[in-house]
Amino acid sequence: MSTPPASKALSYQTGFGNQFSSEAMPGGLPAGQNSPQRHPLGLYAEQFSGTAFTVPRAEARRTWLYRISPSAAHPRFQRLERQITGGGQLGPINPNRLRWNAFDMPTEPTDFIDGLIAFACTTAADQAEGVSVYLYTANQSMQRAFFSADGEWLIVPQQGRLRLTTELGLLDIAPQEIAVIPRGLKFSVQLLDGEARGYLCENHGSSLRLPDLGPIGSNGLANPRDFQAPVAHFENSVQPTVLVQKFLGELWETTLDHTPFDVVAWHGNNVPYKYDLRLFNTMGTISYDHPDPSIFTVLTSPSATHGQANIDFVIFPPRWLVAENTFRPPWFHRNLMNEFMGLIDGAYDAKAEGFMPGGVSLHNCMSAHGPDNATAEKAMAADLKPHKVEQTMAFMFETAKPLRPSRHALECPQLQSDYDACWSGIARTFTSFETDRQR
Ligand SMILES: [Fe+2]
Repeated sequence: MSTPPASKALSYQTGFGNQFSSEAMPGGLPAGQNSPQRHPLGLYAEQFSGTAFTVPRAEARRTWLYRISPSAAHPRFQRLERQITGGGQLGPINPNRLRWNAFDMPTEPTDFIDGLIAFACTTAADQAEGVSVYLYTANQSMQRAFFSADGEWLIVPQQGRLRLTTELGLLDIAPQEIAVIPRGLKFSVQLLDGEARGYLCENHGSSLRLPDLGPIGSNGLANPRDFQAPVAHFENSVQPTVLVQKFLGELWETTLDHTPFDVVAWHGNNVPYKYDLRLFNTMGTISYDHPDPSIFTVLTSPSATHGQANIDFVIFPPRWLVAENTFRPPWFHRNLMNEFMGLIDGAYDAKAEGFMPGGVSLHNCMSAHGPDNATAEKAMAADLKPHKVEQTMAFMFETAKPLRPSRHALECPQLQSDYDACWSGIARTFTSFETDRQR
């Protein structure tokens, strides 16, 4: 089965959390059962589980794969000499507000896995909840396959389109789109523009899902029909293929005597998917003040504490600001939740300068932050006509537990030394009866 050229638009199935099914050859899906004694096409049946068997039905994620060789047909894994940059070493505790410039593209040949930078994490990868955040830069397509046993991957490209070849089929994603890869699913990343840079959230907790809508009703925010899952696509090859796995933060590899992308048919709901952030149906005030930024949640991973997410993936897309008598930028705040932010495109409306596309900011629990001085002063003086915030796409990984930067992140030259200065010397605008009397 030939792989379509990068210029050809791929086919997808639509919907979120569906029980999808797809076969690349007629007869690939057995009729009426999952595991026949002998598959009509001589394929091996393999169940791929993303949740424990006994979770409530609404939580359960699993997919049945019908493949040429079972995944079990692999030799022993060996620890890779080249591990993830910055992996395994947390930096010293630091409660400060932190911001980083964008990382440059690599100068040496670097694929998506070699280009990972371990940036921050809430917890070790073997915990049932928590998040690890990585950045990636790459200038080579992967010539190997990969899976993470440590969690579900949310990939947020900032520059360069990616083709994701997965066991379940192909996904193309571009900046302003995202992809989610289930824990353990094998995939490979091809660069469609020569170079690529972006953000990656590894979710160790419960799978990402759409947030409840409450009084918003039955439509809005990210709509289920806009999510796209692949269709079955397989290779029939005995070309030796290196398979790398990430396990408890370390990279281990083995060499298969066949391609791992040999799934002829599959059915189930434990699937990779993509979503175009520009399709987000953004909600906001049409009277005064503005709602909490939870109104911008695309996907959420609930924690054991009801209402407090393990991670919320939140975006700040283009939108109209129409509130009357209102300070329109994000207000000054101190929050329980921890905020890792990145900028995909344009400028972020709370910062006049210093937060560039590809950059990062980190505001952990109870750190005081908000618009910088220039933005605050402009907002207080603004003529409050309806105004459209355009050419922007910022996002946030908002986590229940503090994100601790790696030692690499705290020592790299991209870390800004003067971030606090954007809030220093803010004008004192207070006037009071006492002040008036002293005049
Ligand atoms: Fe914030």
